[in-house]
Amino acid sequence: MTAPTKASRAKPATAKQAAEPRRERVFSGIAPSGTPTLGNYIGAIRNWVAEQDIYDNIFCVVDLHAITVPQDPAELRANTRQLAALLFASGIDPKRSVLFVQSHVSAHAELAWILNCVTPTGWLNRMTQFKVKAGEDRESVSAGLYVYPVLMAADILLYQTDVVPVGDDQVQHVELTRDIANTFNFRFGETFVEPKARIREVGARIMALDDPAKKMSKSGAEASYISLVDPPTAIRKKIARATTDSERTIVFDENRPGIFNLLTIYQALGGETREQIEAEFAGKGYKEFKAALADLVVATLEPVQQRYTEITADPAELDRLLAQGAEQVRPRAEAMLKLAKERVGLL
Ligand code: TYM
Repeated sequence: MTAPTKASRAKPATAKQAAEPRRERVFSGIAPSGTPTLGNYIGAIRNWVAEQDIYDNIFCVVDLHAITVPQDPAELRANTRQLAALLFASGIDPKRSVLFVQSHVSAHAELAWILNCVTPTGWLNRMTQFKVKAGEDRESVSAGLYVYPVLMAADILLYQTDVVPVGDDQVQHVELTRDIANTFNFRFGETFVEPKARIREVGARIMALDDPAKKMSKSGAEASYISLVDPPTAIRKKIARATTDSERTIVFDENRPGIFNLLTIYQALGGETREQIEAEFAGKGYKEFKAALADLVVATLEPVQQRYTEITADPAELDRLLAQGAEQVRPRAEAMLKLAKERVGLL
């Protein structure tokens, strides 16, 4: 098999493909470290779904990333399948996109090791997400948490990815991936494509409902996030209790982070402009706005939850789809790993 250099990947296999411009490759991942939130949905998942026809897509449930912090083994197993089911339920279509579980393709861990050996620790010391996750306790967090961004670089670089659609918090990791690719290419010869992060203008950073200074996260307190499997009553309750302020107007003002965040969710899910939304709620109170927002979130998640129930009713089919996804990407990943090994002198 020839190594998937940039040139060989671009070569069309059929006359029909030759007539079409090559699609850019998308790779993105999500960690099964709890039930995904509305932040994951708005910042990443819905964008993956919406752009499936534009790109050549690979999506990954990154279980190796999840174990960088302690996980209960049974819960991790369940969360991995739940997340995959929710991604399919959200509209990831196995006919148009590949979805697989990271640990099913061992090339990810192997390439990560090689990349660890070309990544200066100074670069990792600058990663804000590590600083936030490690907090004061840097001495006792795992070495895996520290090199986590290098594993992410391996995920992306294994597939000659052009575009990485992510929320705001992952942009620094994609920049690091570019730096790692560049360093590797400089030392060992042109090998990896340097990817670009793609973030959406609206909703790239959804904040916690109970504290709009913090990012909405699956590791936060129950009241801080909406989970994709929350029933309507819980969604309405959480939104009704979300932090706002003592002012009354419903306008997009970044200095009023609580209402700004809720308006951003409304804009991201409803698709109207800021002006249209402000006009819609002119003269109305927070209570009315929050009720409308809750209706919109419930209406968005209802069909996802319905499909999720159907998918989880057939676990064998879910396993089959995930095995098929891993089989589809494994040859590409292995060919790229082989090339990297050759470049470094391991083969
Ligand atoms: P993770 O699992 O934390 O999040 C998955 C995606 O959801 C986005 N996101 C948000 N967007 C807006 N507002 C929020 N509050 C919010 N919270 C999360 C994230 O930016 C992300 O796009 N390291 C990654 C997973 C990963 C990956 C990769 C991503 C591993 N390998 C390769 C891209 C390419 C992570 O932990 O994402």
